Amino acid sequence: MDDQAAPPSPDSVDPARPLEQARALDPARYIGAQALGFDQREILARNWQVVAPASAPASALASPGDHVVREIGGVPILLVRNGEGVLNGFLNICRHRAGPLALCDGKGAKRLRCAYHGWAYDLDGQLRTAPEMQTAEGFDVSGIALERIEVEVWGGMVFARIGSGPAFADVMAGMDEIVGPDQLDGLRHHHSRLYDVACNWKVYVDNYLEGYHLPFVHPDLTQVVSYPDYTTELARHWSLQRSPIDAETDAYAAGEALYFFIYPNTMLNILPGRMQTNRVVPDGPDRCRVEFDFYYAPGNTDRADADDAFSDSVQEEDRLICEHVQKGLASGAYQPGRLSPAQEAGVWHWQNLLREAYANSG
Ligand code: FES
Ligand SMILES: [Fe+2]
Repeated sequence: MDDQAAPPSPDSVDPARPLEQARALDPARYIGAQALGFDQREILARNWQVVAPASAPASALASPGDHVVREIGGVPILLVRNGEGVLNGFLNICRHRAGPLALCDGKGAKRLRCAYHGWAYDLDGQLRTAPEMQTAEGFDVSGIALERIEVEVWGGMVFARIGSGPAFADVMAGMDEIVGPDQLDGLRHHHSRLYDVACNWKVYVDNYLEGYHLPFVHPDLTQVVSYPDYTTELARHWSLQRSPIDAETDAYAAGEALYFFIYPNTMLNILPGRMQTNRVVPDGPDRCRVEFDFYYAPGNTDRADADDAFSDSVQEEDRLICEHVQKGLASGAYQPGRLSPAQEAGVWHWQNLLREAYANSG
């Protein structure tokens, strides 16, 4: 909306304060192309995020040659399963003149053939053939390969990143003790959805990280999850909101809802017998796209349509409030307000991780 807004300057990072004294993040971080460029390069590209379901039978990556295309920090990436079943990650950028190896998800490819001039790479990223290159002096396909990115499979999901940041094991440390990959491995990917929201990607994350807004924004959801019993746990790289589920409603089975946020843009919403994952991807300074993937325990999918409709209505409520918040942040008339220590510990934790990234950039 406002690319002309003054970019945040490196010396404008307000220090992390104790929760009882905390304020919300500087609104300048939510507006303009320069702020977005920093987030893409220094925060989103460097850190692990969920990018696709891994190994469910119907997964887009189940068999050799199956591939998915995504974006991390604004950089196109490609995941592909090779002939031996190994999952490879590459930049989806041809070594010739930056064309795409794949334009969309696909199944059973024998080669990764660039859509621009047809250079063809094998499923391990090695260039095999390049048309019309015989007279290029010293040109040798064997010395050319796609640039690899790091991938990890955890709990039936593929995580990836493209830059250097904390190790995957360090990021996930402690999660296994609450919900192990073994428990999640039993779930199967069911369907995906995309949502477009007219707000900076961080507004969507801020909103995810507190239950404070539930009675006001989600009256129906408030009947199902026990808002006063929300608790928040904070780890180094992730936070967890927990809520008991009221067994008398039919939207969810009884048990506990676990809402994990893994810095910077992954959410794992784990309910008895199912899980919904979200990845928040910027689509300009004041737009984002949220990728939803729904997973179910085998035999538990009869509620999928009802779950999807309920999730869709909650999502619409969040979309509307996030779009209003973006307008307030971009107005030039907002000064960061105080946070609720009782309800916004998750917001405080994540905004301090952002402050750390901003301070380290100086
Ligand atoms: S850019 Fe890929 S073949 Fe030319
Ligand atoms: Fe919400």
